[in-house]
Amino acid sequence: MEPPRSFEHAPALDADRIPAPVRAAALELASGTGAGYVYDPALAADRARTLRKALPDWARVYFAVKANGFDPVLAHLAEAVDGFETASLREARASLAALRERRGGPGGRIAVSGPGKSPELLAGLAALRARGADIAVNLESVLEAHRASAAAVAAGTVLPVTVRVNPARVPVRGSLVMGGVPGPFGIPEAEVPAAVAAVRALPGLDLAGFHVHAVSGNTDAAAHAAYVLWCLEWARTAADRHGVDLRTVDVGGGLGVPFEAGDGAFDLEGFGAALAAAPDPGVEVVFEPGRWIGAPAGWYAARVTDVKQAYGGTFAVVRGGINHFQLPTSWEIRHTFAVLEDDTWPAGTPRPAARGASVTVSGELCTPEDVLARDVRVGSVRAGDVLVFPNAGAYGFEFAMPAFLGHPPAVRTTVDSRLP
Ligand SMILES: Cc1ncc(COP(=O)(O)O)c(C=O)c1O
Repeated sequence: MEPPRSFEHAPALDADRIPAPVRAAALELASGTGAGYVYDPALAADRARTLRKALPDWARVYFAVKANGFDPVLAHLAEAVDGFETASLREARASLAALRERRGGPGGRIAVSGPGKSPELLAGLAALRARGADIAVNLESVLEAHRASAAAVAAGTVLPVTVRVNPARVPVRGSLVMGGVPGPFGIPEAEVPAAVAAVRALPGLDLAGFHVHAVSGNTDAAAHAAYVLWCLEWARTAADRHGVDLRTVDVGGGLGVPFEAGDGAFDLEGFGAALAAAPDPGVEVVFEPGRWIGAPAGWYAARVTDVKQAYGGTFAVVRGGINHFQLPTSWEIRHTFAVLEDDTWPAGTPRPAARGASVTVSGELCTPEDVLARDVRVGSVRAGDVLVFPNAGAYGFEFAMPAFLGHPPAVRTTVDSRLP
């Protein structure tokens, strides 16, 4: 775990960059347990609809539940997506429940990925499939294929599957390109022919195509379109060579969002146009973004419990920290924040503050790694004020370490951020 990169004294966000309903919810939430998440599920659903509309008819949009598994978020997204990408039985069940409740339309599918699916997980998925759930499993090894087939046969069903490929070379730029490098995800390209033969020989599996999730945080739409088209061509060639009846190509997630001033936004229109200009692949193409749909629909709010100076450094210490919001220490992302003033403060108690200073935001855990932002210039921050971090709707709550030290978990609440 690395401390987040320094902001090098760049200014904090103005408070009015946080939508008014979010500001109100953040102050209310912080007056309770002190810290948590504010989500706008309708905004997430709108983003999913916008993405779906920008893509050609052959595209299917699934939401990657690992990014945000809060039930109200899933309920709204179920109205807007074709399915969910999941990694565990809990995620699978929550997604199926959300899809069952949605108004009208056909059921919707769930895809299941993960490098080490246990026999218990596979048995649970096969049981759900046997009861009529529309499930596709992305297989990540030959052993997993054998386990999945055995689970399906035992449940009296057949599981639709794709083979997840770790391509030897991925011609795309992105912050986290995972293809062609050592890793536990998927099956190395050279071993795909043997894996396909194994899967086709297994009685409990129906091989529908291939899955590739080889890029993350990509804000370059032209490069991402090239990646998708490359996946399609790769899958068609492999299917023809190995006699696979290609029906599905899952191209994973990986669409990026801008986190800092100066980061470019993903050009959705250009992305859609580049894909629409390509020949119809004649198969369903699954996109499973988490971050692009979820991140802008969530905010992490934490009350400042103390402000301290030590040997030239200024620290705003917040309730919460990486036990709630570990993302800033995990990826090359700098999460900025806004300071919300809260004037309620007990009379007669000293109120430490910093004015016109660069502050480091640290959490309440007994480890120097508990840092959310470094060297951010603030006009003023006082103990009792509330810090709000936008772009926290993906890999925020889900990606934290809530058990360390046993402090209260982050609470979660929802708003319509677009109300006046
Ligand atoms: C298999 C798979 N699909 C989709 C995603 C979502 O990726 P992103 O949030 O970058 O769009 C992930 C993220 O780890 C993943 O592992």
